Amino acid sequence: MTVLFVNACLRGEESHTLKLCREYLEGREDVKEVNLAELKLEPYYAGPVAFRAQLEANNRFDDPLFDLAKDFAEADEIVIGAPYWDLSFPAALKIYVEHVCAMGITFHYTEQGACEGLCKAGRLTYITTCGGRVEGMNFGYEYFCGIAKMFGIPETRFVAAENLDVVGNDNEASMAAARQQIAKLRAEG
Ligand SMILES: Cc1cc2nc3c(=O)[nH]c(=O)nc-3n(C[C@H](O)[C@H](O)[C@H](O)COP(=O)(O)O)c2cc1C
Repeated sequence: MTVLFVNACLRGEESHTLKLCREYLEGREDVKEVNLAELKLEPYYAGPVAFRAQLEANNRFDDPLFDLAKDFAEADEIVIGAPYWDLSFPAALKIYVEHVCAMGITFHYTEQGACEGLCKAGRLTYITTCGGRVEGMNFGYEYFCGIAKMFGIPETRFVAAENLDVVGNDNEASMAAARQQIAKLRAEG
């Protein structure tokens, strides 16, 4: 069982989201972490887009450019840890998605023209923390539900600690509520 932990907790050890992720992953063996704060990936502009398309067309999937996509496609579970920023998540995570959306590795088009996922993972777990509340505007998680569908990952799960920047909020209680959600998910397996 390999877990791919996509760490978009850009504030590092200060991050509440990272604390929750660590609790979710505690005791799991075989966790591979992608630390987006360290990776500092570049977004795709015209040149790299053309270069990648050429590699795909020539079946040159041995190029290191595809390593992130390969790790994503081969993991048994995906865990995304991302704070709730500007109604979704940090831009670094969207750039990571650009790198893993590689045709022929994480998805492809069938001869009938349908988009078909190629990922092995049985589920994607999305963990976040928010300054306020996420309800009704959970665009980050909803986006990853779409990505999971496109990549052929059948199940998605969500954990949030809310109201952490609200003056007077009991942050310990908010984190404890999220920890309960985590305990429930871990008990499910
Ligand atoms: C750039 C930025 C954008 C944010 N945007 C939102 C937002 O749209 N809605 C919200 O409720 N909180 C927002 N917040 C607050 C964070 O969601 C909150 O502080 C969260 O707990 C940070 O997670 P972390 O401790 O893992 O970094 C934002 C914080 C930052 C730094």
